[in-house]
Amino acid sequence: MSISTVKTIVELRRRLREARCTGALIGAVPTMGALHAGHGGLIDRARAECDFVVVTLFVNPTQFNDPADYAKYPRALEADLAFCESRRADIVFAPAEAEMYAGAPQTSVNVGEVAEFMEGLFRPGHFRGVATVVAKLFNIVAPDKAYFGEKDAQQLAVIRRMVADLNFPVEIVEVPTVREPDGLALSSRNARLTPGERAQATALHEALIAAQSQILAGERSSAELKRLAGEGIARYPLVHLEYFEIADPNRMVPVAEVSGPVRIAGAIRLGGVRLIDNMLAALAAS
Ligand code: PAJ
Repeated sequence: MSISTVKTIVELRRRLREARCTGALIGAVPTMGALHAGHGGLIDRARAECDFVVVTLFVNPTQFNDPADYAKYPRALEADLAFCESRRADIVFAPAEAEMYAGAPQTSVNVGEVAEFMEGLFRPGHFRGVATVVAKLFNIVAPDKAYFGEKDAQQLAVIRRMVADLNFPVEIVEVPTVREPDGLALSSRNARLTPGERAQATALHEALIAAQSQILAGERSSAELKRLAGEGIARYPLVHLEYFEIADPNRMVPVAEVSGPVRIAGAIRLGGVRLIDNMLAALAAS
């Protein structure tokens, strides 16, 4: 393996100083590893736009509200390094937990309203963990640009808000969701689905597509859209719907009526696996 793997903050900063001396534009791709083509899209975009690409691999314990989910989160360091090399990243930062959270930290980043609903309601403390670790990674890497997936649209909105509110000197780049041929959004958690669950995991994507066309056809009531989605998903016996929501795309606050572009987002559970997905939707131009 020829790609450099760096485990300490001191060493990473030394390497980045060297790159910056040559005038390189630095791109960061924060991930929790178990990399797939969704992450690949982020790395490719960073590679196309930046001179020096840092992929971070860190399964961040503070953003897991469910300890079982953290324990079962897939870890695949060797395969991840080969993947980063094949996508021509320059460096992989893969710190141990003790490196990232040395000395019993007492400070965290708490983002307000945009982190409150949907994932915020169902995963208490999740976005505090995400915002804090992303703030730390921004301070460690000091990237010019950082790449995040539309797949986690609320996470993206939370990070944009944090960057604006705290004046981080970084440009946030949004990258479209990469999907399987049947529409299922790629996720590291898909690997934990049984074949039977995998076959039904498309339920959420189908409900999102259906809601998108109902909105385009003029349906404005979120209650009705949610009722129809619930009905559609109920046809899949292995799927438990956690939420299906219609939200303002910037504020990420649920709306009762569709009167402009909206973010439709949902979460489902299949056995012990929780999956999320979302799409933008808009009324037909009149
Ligand atoms: P992780 O789930 O590993 O995702 C890393 C990045 O890849 C996120 O920006 C996510 O939105 C993006 N991504 C995942 N699946 C995708 C897909 N199918 N298409 C496009 N992009 C996809 O999100 C996290 O890690 C963590 O919360 C992190 C930001 C690293 C902080 O710990």
